[in-house]
Amino acid sequence: MSSIDRSGTFRLANRTVKRLGYGAMQLAGPGVFGPPKDPDQALAVLREAAASGVNHLDTSDFYGPHITNQLIREALHPYRKDLVIVTKIGARRGADGSWLPASSAGEVTQAVYDNLRNLGLDVLEVVNLRSMGRTHGPAAGSIEAPLSALAELQRKGLVRHVGLSNVTRAQIEEGRRICEIVCVQNHYNLAHRADDALLDELARDGIAYVPFFPLGGFTPLQSSILSDVAQRLDATPMQVALAWLLRRSPNILLIPGTSSLAHLRENLAAAELDLPSDARLALDGIKTDTRSP
Ligand SMILES: NC(=O)c1ccc[n+]([C@@H]2O[C@H](COP(=O)([O-])OP(=O)(O)OC[C@H]3O[C@@H](n4cnc5c(N)ncnc54)[C@H](OP(=O)(O)O)[C@@H]3O)[C@@H](O)[C@H]2O)c1
Repeated sequence: MSSIDRSGTFRLANRTVKRLGYGAMQLAGPGVFGPPKDPDQALAVLREAAASGVNHLDTSDFYGPHITNQLIREALHPYRKDLVIVTKIGARRGADGSWLPASSAGEVTQAVYDNLRNLGLDVLEVVNLRSMGRTHGPAAGSIEAPLSALAELQRKGLVRHVGLSNVTRAQIEEGRRICEIVCVQNHYNLAHRADDALLDELARDGIAYVPFFPLGGFTPLQSSILSDVAQRLDATPMQVALAWLLRRSPNILLIPGTSSLAHLRENLAAAELDLPSDARLALDGIKTDTRSP
């Protein structure tokens, strides 16, 4: 059994994916804008992730923009049959790299066609509608118009399955009245657990919960408890943070992001880390930000 098989699997829509996947956002240039400093290294990271058995890849055409999807195509096309590429729409980049909403019906349609073209696909397996809310957290408001536009593209056969990102419970409920929602991608990690109750509810309904910033994102996780547990287990803090998420709930799918081969190997090895119950208890006690979205 290869190491990442130890992470287990989850049924994402009608596909089975390993619970340890890879998020491609870090492959674009600084600020997720423009090309990477070392394109060969970016291609190597993607190829090694796939060769290590990763079959759940998270991306967006607004990373770069376009760059990350083009790298994925160059590195991995034609795609292995078991690979599930999940992309997201709902934003666009300003000329200065800013993140702007793009949720009109026209922008949703354009984004789906951009993803198809840049990934080299005829159909997108899963598309998350990313609500722009507050930048890294959701804000109340209807998602009916953009989601209806995406559901229409699903009916036309351009998109197989739909997910939501950066959303509130009310928006998920609204979304589920419009079309089937197979996954939710929100901000969650060891130190940011506002979605605790929500992710348990989604687990009961068989919906995948995909935490973005599983390692803390732009401000990597730091905690003396995390460091102590890591030292005791002869692991790194990032491996412990991922192992904790894998044990938190069976519907959690991990997409840690990295532009580094060394970090990729380190992160994938987290699948093999055993987390004794006392270590888990200590990690559960880390002071967290539990503000409701
Ligand atoms: N839906 C959304 O709104 C949304 C928002 C953000 C992200 N995402 C998705 O979620 C994925 C994961 O989020 P993320 O990449 O922003 O954050 P993340 O996985 O929490 O952390 C990535 C950061 O941690 C560093 N890192 C990775 N592995 C490490 C290790 N083993 N040791 C030390 N540092 C390490 C990376 O730098 P190096 O490159 O140097 O390794 C990078 O700075 C993204 O790739 C993207 O696909 C979605």
